[in-house]
Amino acid sequence: MTSEEERVNALEQVNYNLFKIPAHMILIDLLTDSGTGAMSSEQWAGIMRGDESYAGSASFERLEKTAQELFGFKHIIPTHQGRAAERILFSTICKKGDIIPNNTHFDTTRANVESQGALAIDLVIPEGLDPSNTHPFKGNMDIIKLEELIKNKGEENIPVCLLTITNNSGGGQPVSMDNIRSVRKVLDIYGIPLYLDACRFAENAYFIKLREPKYKDANVKDIVLEMMSFAEGCTISAKKDGLVNIGGLLCTNNDSLAKKEKDLLILTEGYPTYGGLAGRDLEAMSVGLKEVMNEDYLQYRLAQAKYLGEHLMRIGYDTIQPPGGHAIYIDAKSTLDHIPPLEFPGHALAIELYKTGGIRSCEIGTVMFGKIDKARGKEIPAKMELLRLALPRRTHTQSHIDYVLEVAKDVFDRKKNIKGLKIIDQPKTLRHFTASFQLL
Ligand code: F0G
Repeated sequence: MTSEEERVNALEQVNYNLFKIPAHMILIDLLTDSGTGAMSSEQWAGIMRGDESYAGSASFERLEKTAQELFGFKHIIPTHQGRAAERILFSTICKKGDIIPNNTHFDTTRANVESQGALAIDLVIPEGLDPSNTHPFKGNMDIIKLEELIKNKGEENIPVCLLTITNNSGGGQPVSMDNIRSVRKVLDIYGIPLYLDACRFAENAYFIKLREPKYKDANVKDIVLEMMSFAEGCTISAKKDGLVNIGGLLCTNNDSLAKKEKDLLILTEGYPTYGGLAGRDLEAMSVGLKEVMNEDYLQYRLAQAKYLGEHLMRIGYDTIQPPGGHAIYIDAKSTLDHIPPLEFPGHALAIELYKTGGIRSCEIGTVMFGKIDKARGKEIPAKMELLRLALPRRTHTQSHIDYVLEVAKDVFDRKKNIKGLKIIDQPKTLRHFTASFQLL
């Protein structure tokens, strides 16, 4: 616990960038659900069994077998986290001038596409951009726009199409099985492979079970296998539904691509049977990937997000509807309608929640996705101004969530006094991690 005065000082010292606040000064950390969950006794036991052989580790064999069984892909390539899998995939599959469609690229995915000189295009359905719309699968790809894009730009310029399950940047919203199947059908006409950005594969599968009538009696394991069956491969940040603190996977059925990917892996991550991880990390991942399929766990996880979302709505916050899987997203544009997008309403709300109650959250709006229009020297705001309250897995109890709600109520009652911010220093890419701000 820190005093408000200590938190105000801390904010001034880090130029209002919450990534730079030391964790010991955070009471409840909802910055991310990535690598911040609690590992189970079985995972810790696995860590004791870790085989640290440089090549051919038994821990890798167990992970490979688990991932092959759960996902059905032939080649399982471990990486230190999701973005390493992304970098290796895009370095091998795409070139300058290519176009990569996705429902919505996550920030690191977009940055890895763009660092190859390729163009990242988001094609989520229109309902996915309307915060109050209650469509059950707001992460779905707009199939008509996808086909138009392929026809206009030419399939030879689209080496791969991605689908992010669940759609993190769009509110943690799921993609339906029907949509995955339809995307694959369109891609088949043009011979374009589908890859899933499958960090939250188990949450997406559970949403399919709850919301897609045909799957109401199916078990999550079968749903996961079916989702993956439409793809040639996937990237996974195991820091989410792998239930580990570090780790990732790049999976593919494409032999020649896998060979190139493994060569690049050796250059930058490590030998293909460890990929930048310790043997014990592989072991923990192998256990976590299985544990996350437990439907009691998934039911609790989604219920916790729903509880937070519904109570925020009762206070008066506008949130993305329906509640997502791993986080609740407050619509900061409408909640703080006196702060224009270029004064970062989402970030302003994040600062106020920290100042008031030591809660750390994360803006997903113009700080993260704003674009500088170089020709006009102006900044173009993001499509949405969101504040994400991400829930680490197996970590918080209901009383933690109730505390968050009390702080959120206090902030809401004073919302007219909250001020926007301006950026005084920023790097060229991924500016939200390191930019400096000043209160207006
Ligand atoms: N794809 C998605 C959909 C993600 O949410 C993330 C990470 C990544 C890829 C990259 O994985 O961090 O292991 O390199 N999301 C975290 C978050 C950081 O807070 O949402 P990574």
